[in-house]
Amino acid sequence: MSALPNPLPYKTVCFSETVITELMIPSYSNFGGKIHGGILLSLMDKVAYVCAAKHAGNYCVTASIDTVDFLQPVEVGELVSLMASVNYVGNTSLVVGIRVISENIKTNIVNHTNTSYFTMVAKDENNKPVQVPGLILENRVQVRRFIEARRRKEIKQNYKQEVDEITMPDDYLLCEQLLTGERCLIAQ
Ligand SMILES: CC(C)(COP(=O)(O)OP(=O)(O)OC[C@H]1O[C@@H](n2cnc3c(N)ncnc32)[C@H](O)[C@@H]1OP(=O)(O)O)[C@@H](O)C(=O)NCCC(=O)NCCS
Repeated sequence: MSALPNPLPYKTVCFSETVITELMIPSYSNFGGKIHGGILLSLMDKVAYVCAAKHAGNYCVTASIDTVDFLQPVEVGELVSLMASVNYVGNTSLVVGIRVISENIKTNIVNHTNTSYFTMVAKDENNKPVQVPGLILENRVQVRRFIEARRRKEIKQNYKQEVDEITMPDDYLLCEQLLTGERCLIAQ
């Protein structure tokens, strides 16, 4: 790697790595006795903010969240740990990767509940996006995560373009054909 450019400093991934551990209390649970997905999302947003703001040295906002799949239910009484690190930096945005695990303190069984990627944008005092420091990659894992994040960004741009191009055919008969086999009825 060439000499580090000025004036914005480059920062290591370790500099902003953040872990939050929280006890899952009864008021976090849903009617089924499991923890609400929204509680986990809120904790993920919090850890993403801490990690991003520390790297950016500025206030950050959440621009987007790349897939949230809840792989395992979380129970009341478990400890949930959220491990966050900067995976990628653009110009004013950065991607924070978050791994969430739950731990049963009696059995010591640890479950991976989900992994998500939060795109955060740094803002200046006038609420305008502001450049973030570059990222110093110190090992192969960090290099892999950076490359993967860049690829996800490209895929998302293509996906967005394809979604924007989805239109309903003008021909109503064609719509009916398209919906053949679906569990819906078009009311006449
Ligand atoms: C996200 C936000 C800052 C983008 O502002 P903008 O004026 O459109 O800024 P730009 O188009 O210059 O984009 C700034 C950066 O954000 C990135 N970005 C913008 N929208 C994005 C999205 N939906 N997903 C991923 N990245 C996004 C851009 O790629 C750009 O990154 P780069 O500078 O690293 O290349 C703005 O839309 C905003 O403030 N949204 C509200 C965020 C918020 O309040 N979040 C809390 C949840 S309620």
